[in-house]
Amino acid sequence: VPNDPGIDARLPIGVFDSGVGGLTVLAALCAQLPQERFVYLGDTARLPYGIKSPDTVVRYALRAADALIHRGVKALVIACNTASAVALPAMGERYGALPLMGVVEPGAAAAAAATRSGRIAVIGTEATVRGGAYQRAIRRHRPDAQIRALACQLFVALAEEGWTEGPVALASAERYLSALVTRTGSESNACDSPAGTPAFAADTLVLGCTHFPMLRATIREVIGEGVRLVDSAATTAQATQALLQARRLLAPAAPTGRRVQLLATDGAERFARVGARFLGRHIAPAEVELVDL
Ligand code: DGL
Repeated sequence: VPNDPGIDARLPIGVFDSGVGGLTVLAALCAQLPQERFVYLGDTARLPYGIKSPDTVVRYALRAADALIHRGVKALVIACNTASAVALPAMGERYGALPLMGVVEPGAAAAAAATRSGRIAVIGTEATVRGGAYQRAIRRHRPDAQIRALACQLFVALAEEGWTEGPVALASAERYLSALVTRTGSESNACDSPAGTPAFAADTLVLGCTHFPMLRATIREVIGEGVRLVDSAATTAQATQALLQARRLLAPAAPTGRRVQLLATDGAERFARVGARFLGRHIAPAEVELVDL
């Protein structure tokens, strides 16, 4: 495979999300690709994308991606499930040869590999679920899969508020998830579906939103130990490495100086405060550069 003409392997990888959620993906990328530099853009001024119409999500996502490309990136990771689900085809058309990686395809592949019964539940934002991108991507890997997708919009706010455990998170998770799984043994009453409807009995649950890994412990408490949880951050980082390798765009040498540059379209202080939980390390507000799109 020839080196991509016109793409410089020494450039950073662009990572884009509607806000701070994609920092969970950035953390996985940093761990997977220690040689690389990253520039992360959180479109905090327009967050949330998850309740917007497809046209709006596409418009916002292209604008944010344009800004990263203008700064000079060798590849773009769309670390937002909503933007990946809704805007990836438009990005592919617009950016041609630039390597693009979304989070939906790696998550779908991981779910298809994890399931035994073929019954897969996907939770995400309204826009992600409505567009059906996860359902299509999972079926490409496993045509006989039975898939149930559910919007859990409130989880986004809970994760941003830091209420990822405790009674409010638990009650929300029970309300959303009880119809998706069947718990067995002594736990069987804890998670019965409302009004006696039989649960979907998924054996695999895809956390199809950047915020949901923050609620992993609470979700686990509600669904029990028997259901596999798929979180696309690690698989997306692996897929990004494979893509760069295939295109011969891995960084030739370890970076010197700052590895991660953080950009946001609004609220550097809030980005730093809330984002620290998602990234798993302290962020100083001065690290966050405000940009206008
Ligand atoms: N980043 C979004 C996602 O993964 C969640 C937040 C939003 O709705 O913008 O779907």
